[in-house]
Amino acid sequence: MAEFSLPKNSKVKKGAEFKAPAGATNVKKFHVYRWNPDDGKNPHMDTYEVDMDSCGPMVLDALIKIKNEMDSTLTFRRSCREGVCGSCAMNVDGENALACTKSIEEVKGDVSITPLPHQEVIKDLVPDLTNFYAQYASIKPWMQTQSTTPTKERLQSIEDRSKLDGLYECILCACCSTSCPSYWWNGDKYLGPAILLQAYRWLIDSRDEATGDRLDNLEDPFRLYRCHTIMNCSNTCPKGLNPAKAIAEIKKMMVERQH
Ligand code: SF4
Ligand code: SF4
Ligand code: FES
Repeated sequence: MAEFSLPKNSKVKKGAEFKAPAGATNVKKFHVYRWNPDDGKNPHMDTYEVDMDSCGPMVLDALIKIKNEMDSTLTFRRSCREGVCGSCAMNVDGENALACTKSIEEVKGDVSITPLPHQEVIKDLVPDLTNFYAQYASIKPWMQTQSTTPTKERLQSIEDRSKLDGLYECILCACCSTSCPSYWWNGDKYLGPAILLQAYRWLIDSRDEATGDRLDNLEDPFRLYRCHTIMNCSNTCPKGLNPAKAIAEIKKMMVERQH
């Protein structure tokens, strides 16, 4: 985004401006979504001028600097700062990303930061992911077995183990689901790409013995079949995963079991 401007009919107005310290020569502007449920004000975008000569390279570095040095009221989630916890997912410059792995340099001009799209906001950049986690629980994301528990571990061939590659790496950041138009409009009923990728991770695990029940649980006009292969999910995943492919594999399993 070369120049920051709010959409004409946007209800989100420009807010406060926080100037860079005197003498700063390498300044970048960050426009950050602000909303506090307790102050009665409408959502707005505050602008922070950050001195890049004393800022780390990632968007999360800038947010932490803003919170530490300019405005302690700014609220966002983060934990690992290395792309493994998934908690810093947000929309940066129009694309969902992990703030800790998104390089500031990649954004030309000002940086605009808003919460993950189409979710309720708890405060500032913190989305309410209650529904997302409830949907995750609904697919029973743990190994289910009926056979006798072995005295040591349940073995898996190298070939079967490799079927989990591209799935186990998912950090449940929700970047994909919140970029999916089908999830925007039917997020209460459609499971969305992240949860379906996780569902496939258990369907394809050779050690799991609940494949039939898992497929029954997905056989529904909304839970699985609202995916229209728009591909936003796979294009946005910060871990380079392909949820759309996992969804296609589940659909294939559904067809195969009917024959
Ligand atoms: S598939 Fe990718 S974008 Fe989606 S939740 Fe997992 S890591 Fe995040
Ligand atoms: S491919 Fe399916 S899950 Fe991915 S963005 Fe499109 S509709 Fe959503
Ligand atoms: S802080 Fe953990 S993924 Fe960004």
